[in-house]
Amino acid sequence: MYPAQAHVIKTFNKLIELLPPPDQTKERHRPRAELPAGLTDFHESNFYYLSGCAVPSSYLLLTFQHGTSLAERLLAQLFIPKIELADLMWSVPPPTAEEASKLYQATPEQMKAYPGATFHVLPKGSPLFPILPAQYTALILPPHAPATDEYLLPALHRARLTKDAGEIEAIRKANAISSRAHEVVMRVLGRGVRGTITRGKGAGADRPLLPGEWLIEKEAEAEALFVASCRREGSVHQAYLPIVAASTRASTLHYCCNDREFAWGPVGAHDHQNGDHLAHGADRQLNPQVLLIDAGCEWDCHASDITRTMPVGNGGKFTPEARAIYELVLEMQRLSMEALKPGIHWDAIQLLCHRTLVQGFQRLGIFKTPNSPGSGSWNAEEAILVSGVSTAFFPHGVGHSLGLDVHDVPSASKPERNDTIGKGVELGHESFYAYLRLRLHLEEGMVVTVEPGIYFSPHLLAPVRDSKHIDHEVLKRYEAVGGVRIEDVVVVTQDGYENLTTVRSDTDWVEGVCSGAL
Ligand code: GLY
Ligand code: MN
Ligand code: MN
Repeated sequence: MYPAQAHVIKTFNKLIELLPPPDQTKERHRPRAELPAGLTDFHESNFYYLSGCAVPSSYLLLTFQHGTSLAERLLAQLFIPKIELADLMWSVPPPTAEEASKLYQATPEQMKAYPGATFHVLPKGSPLFPILPAQYTALILPPHAPATDEYLLPALHRARLTKDAGEIEAIRKANAISSRAHEVVMRVLGRGVRGTITRGKGAGADRPLLPGEWLIEKEAEAEALFVASCRREGSVHQAYLPIVAASTRASTLHYCCNDREFAWGPVGAHDHQNGDHLAHGADRQLNPQVLLIDAGCEWDCHASDITRTMPVGNGGKFTPEARAIYELVLEMQRLSMEALKPGIHWDAIQLLCHRTLVQGFQRLGIFKTPNSPGSGSWNAEEAILVSGVSTAFFPHGVGHSLGLDVHDVPSASKPERNDTIGKGVELGHESFYAYLRLRLHLEEGMVVTVEPGIYFSPHLLAPVRDSKHIDHEVLKRYEAVGGVRIEDVVVVTQDGYENLTTVRSDTDWVEGVCSGAL
């Protein structure tokens, strides 16, 4: 059974911690009730967390009285819409009260608020959280009962920040299904290279293409295969719109148009010219390019979030420039993961990625060193790091919390005042942290993504076109790579981390599969 009670108790405890001190003291001496309530439309994450119920238009009343044992005295009442005969021809019926009591940890008795209770609700006036209809609240609440939306959502986010074994299993399953879907796309690309997938005679003209006859020659075909693979394994929804970006479109972080052909000729960042008529000609070859797929499905309402960047054209192998950038991103990810353990501050991981990027760019010659012609100490690693120029290539955060939502528990992830950075962490440049969604010390049980990337986006490069740290001739050679991101989901353990993403990302394996050799 879904562990709703454990989630409710964890949330209540967080809520009590958040109450202002006078209320905390008062409540310790004068037992009274706290009543969080919610309403789900479809799969509202906080509601699901407390109930395990994804039946639309349900709501939940939880009663807790201070001074009693939370575990013993907690009461939960789940209101699921009654079965209407007229609805049965349109929809599958919701569970009956008896079925619901077996499925969800809810008590059947009718509850009312304790006198003097405070009624805690999700934020009012937000489109994300429907308001409880007065017909329900009138049943429960005494007139003029104090109600507040100040504490429940932050308490829920704090409770959801660390995951229990059941949550980790759901995230693990979502990641395993998504991992296989990424591998399916890579293997079909590889079979296309080998010529072992060909269009059947007449396919596409006299009859539709069947599974097994699809080549992947456009972003949409890659997305369709990814989603089909997740669906056939039972996942109902994607956790977010898939990002499937070929060629230099990979430099757009949240590109989700997914509607372009692969590049068969010169291609610009927003090139609409690579239409069908350019493809499939005997004398035309796919340009060497990357295909970046950032996609993950849900399992039991829990998200996955995986990015793989794969070679297309060039026989399924990266160009030397793309391979160099891919290996540098992989190094950023490997070093980040090796540093993961409870107590480390996420800012330190962000800084580590920038430092690794700077060192790597100096090795590749994209950034100058003090020994470059006409250079000096202003091109020392530390000086380049402090200048912030690396943000033009790695503009986003190295990861975020993940759970019921792909960008999970934002209010608990990023304190307004960030004065908790670990000792010994030097800040580098403030631009490193502008889009960081997580700014905390890691704790055991947190689930986070580790997703470094390197991009060559004309928009991001514009402000650094005259940077004295960059060798602009060398940079030109790399711009056609577009972008590389590699993203895995990990759970922080007692002494390190466990990677929940199972699809491999090492360069030789990715090239082996995408070229059809493996
Ligand atoms: N898929 C969005 C992200 O990686 O944050
Ligand atoms: Mn992602
Ligand atoms: Mn992500």
